[in-house]
Amino acid sequence: MRVLVTGATGFVGTRLLRSLDRPAILTRSPLVAGINGPGGTAYRWTPLGEPPPEACAGVGAVVHLAGEPVAEGRWSLEKKARIRDSRVTGTRNLVRMIERSSGKPRVLVCASAVGYYGDRGDEVLDESSPPGSDFLAEVCRAWEEAAAAARAFGVRVVSLRIGIVLGAGGGALSKMLPPFRFGVGGRLGSGRQWMSWVHLDDVVDLILHAIGNEAVSGPVNAVAPAPVTNADFTRTLGRVLRRPAIFPVPGFALKAALGEFAGVLLSSQRVAPRAALASGYVFKYPALEGALREALS
Ligand SMILES: NC(=O)c1ccc[n+]([C@@H]2O[C@H](COP(=O)([O-])OP(=O)(O)OC[C@H]3O[C@@H](n4cnc5c(N)ncnc54)[C@H](OP(=O)(O)O)[C@@H]3O)[C@@H](O)[C@H]2O)c1
Repeated sequence: MRVLVTGATGFVGTRLLRSLDRPAILTRSPLVAGINGPGGTAYRWTPLGEPPPEACAGVGAVVHLAGEPVAEGRWSLEKKARIRDSRVTGTRNLVRMIERSSGKPRVLVCASAVGYYGDRGDEVLDESSPPGSDFLAEVCRAWEEAAAAARAFGVRVVSLRIGIVLGAGGGALSKMLPPFRFGVGGRLGSGRQWMSWVHLDDVVDLILHAIGNEAVSGPVNAVAPAPVTNADFTRTLGRVLRRPAIFPVPGFALKAALGEFAGVLLSSQRVAPRAALASGYVFKYPALEGALREALS
């Protein structure tokens, strides 16, 4: 089955492409767009416009990963508008392309995030839990709603509520590592906030599982079955790196340095992969230490 991927040049997308046969991709990059080779075909698209209809020809599944990075730079008003518009308007435009295409894809797998749930303390959250009310929760809710509109055209829609993705060569881990490597890593704030993490290989396998499994539909938490507190995460990372992890960063210092984005690092989501497990998905990396050891090997 031919798969059309957005965000294919990113951390998750690059790894996903390795598992696909001659995918089509939609990209903002003029360097990549126009390439038609053994790796697939790339079309130019900025999410604020409608994708070229030919990108959808012969496509059985669409995987939508594109979006302005959330964890880079301070959240100015412009940055927040880019975070929201690249996802919500981008998804609406993608669904419009699907609406207009003659041979429709069978499934749309759209990224979302555990940020959907907001800051929820120790509460165990599954796909039936209500959304939070902060900025990211509102973005995720609108993003999922935009994707769900494709159902009206007979397309199965899966919104993957992705946790903190751990893998080599990018993502959250590449940002966390420098202080740990210099021996000055430590918990963030109280360290009691829950981190719902997932290994990169499991995110990619969950995308493929969602494409291939007709019974998978609606929101699916893409998180490992064993979330940990930030303090536990910090201890485990220190142990795997064999570095001390005893220098906590107080919440007020994070807020001074990072502004509103600090709230994301301090907020708590204890998320369970109920739908993934119920659909028979078996996690390759169910425990944090094994996931970190692989990601850092
Ligand atoms: N990584 C995580 O820990 C994590 C956690 C939760 C949710 N997610 C979500 O999963 C998706 C994939 O994550 P990722 O880590 O692979 O993302 P990423 O590395 O930041 O890449 C996403 C891709 O989005 C496109 N993009 C970047 N800025 C954009 C903008 N302003 N407007 C439109 N497109 C833009 C780029 O593709 P082109 O330049 O080719 O267009 C980029 O390669 C994202 O939507 C992310 O929010 C990720």
